Amino acid sequence: MDYASPSPRDIPLALPAPEWLLQGAIVVFFILHILFVNLMLGGAILTLYFERLGYRRGEPKFDALARRIAATVTVNKSLAVVLGVGPLLAMNVLYSVYFYSANALTGTAWVSIVPLAASAFLLLYWHKFSWEKMAGEKRRHMAILIVAVALLLAIPLIFLTNINLMLFPERWTSIAGFFSAAILPNVLPRYAHFLLATQAVTGLFLAWHLGRRQHADLEDLTPPTLRRMFYRVTLYASLAQFLVGPTVYFTLPSRGVTNQMTGVILAGVTMALAGILFLWQEIYETDERIGRGYWFVVAFLFGTVCCMALGRHLYREESIASHRTRMQERTAKFEVLSQAAFDDYQRELAKFPPEQRLFNFRCGACHAIDTVRVGPSLREIAGIYKDKPEGIVAWAMSPGKKRPSFPQMPKMSHVGERDLTTIAQYMISAGSVTAPAASQLQSKE
Ligand code: HEC
Repeated sequence: MDYASPSPRDIPLALPAPEWLLQGAIVVFFILHILFVNLMLGGAILTLYFERLGYRRGEPKFDALARRIAATVTVNKSLAVVLGVGPLLAMNVLYSVYFYSANALTGTAWVSIVPLAASAFLLLYWHKFSWEKMAGEKRRHMAILIVAVALLLAIPLIFLTNINLMLFPERWTSIAGFFSAAILPNVLPRYAHFLLATQAVTGLFLAWHLGRRQHADLEDLTPPTLRRMFYRVTLYASLAQFLVGPTVYFTLPSRGVTNQMTGVILAGVTMALAGILFLWQEIYETDERIGRGYWFVVAFLFGTVCCMALGRHLYREESIASHRTRMQERTAKFEVLSQAAFDDYQRELAKFPPEQRLFNFRCGACHAIDTVRVGPSLREIAGIYKDKPEGIVAWAMSPGKKRPSFPQMPKMSHVGERDLTTIAQYMISAGSVTAPAASQLQSKE
């Protein structure tokens, strides 16, 4: 399987699938993953917000609301984790050198994602399952969630820093760890962009999830009230994106900005405007009619997400394009040199008689005529098996353990008895020639 690939051959190996498929996979997988990351993080933040509101106002309905949101967080978390495997794999294949370099440069922080995520998840479960037990000690209960949220906030920052670092091969030599990578241009605006998106997506999800039917424990928080409330979360977060979004765009190093990418982003902005318009209408809709425009809002905002994800991908492709080209040139040169070296080697080999070639190929790494490489010299072997080549064959088929200071010789039965016999005869004759003749032979090796 050799797919002619115009770009990412950062390692001279064929891609395991056509490049367009991998590129498509990375965008689609990433959207799915980030969607559930948003719902997990946004849900955790809103849980904290409403639990605190209920506590401060002494209103159980907000506590009940927080609890209902908390129930969605752990589910969305599991989906986020599972769906995260896809983009990671596609990333590894498509951007091996870039991804690996960024990982290595932010090593400690990067690896710490695993314990951070594991701790955050355990805390989320602890918080969720201790709701009743810790009803009398709300502050402590909320403290568990605060730690979980802090950890959940740290993880995307590490990710983002890493992914951002991929785009700057020229900075790799001056980066020393996570913090120096985190202050590269664009990381913090992108992080803010992500956090707002998180709230926007979660608001929309909860408007649907909690707006479907009345729950007794939510008292006067009726479905229309809840819908309106969570629509507002989405609305404010989306409006704030009109400040943060341009900041992200204008702090992007211009190298990766193309008309195509800008066009895609602008298409996303247009859809966001349409989505916000529908959202606005929904909020001011009567209780009876609220919810009818929901899927329009979702469709437009989802369109925005897709455009942004695509724009981001186009940006990445463009900004590493020149580095890639140089890398490809290097790889091509390397391939030519390595082919030449191989041809050279074959030509040299052809000068030897076939039995010596066989020996060199199968045994020459460990055995030489006069010197001890890994195993004993041919001179010694010829001494032992003077007239018994079949003894060498038998040994090579199933070597014993003879010399205490030598390692065990590997079994060579895969060579086959016929070739082993040829090799054995060669070993005996080469090991029996006089020293000067032998040294001549040796120098030819
Ligand atoms: C990976 C290294 C390695 C390779 C490859 C290797 N040998 Fe050996 N060979 C050894 C070592 C080590 C010993 C010594 C083992 C011992 O004495 O326990 C040894 C010992 C021998 C001996 C001496 C046995 C004796 O009775 O003292 C013979 C004969 C021999 N090898 C034949 C071969 C042949 C034939 C091949 C290729 C088909 C081969 N070896 C490939 C490592 C190697």
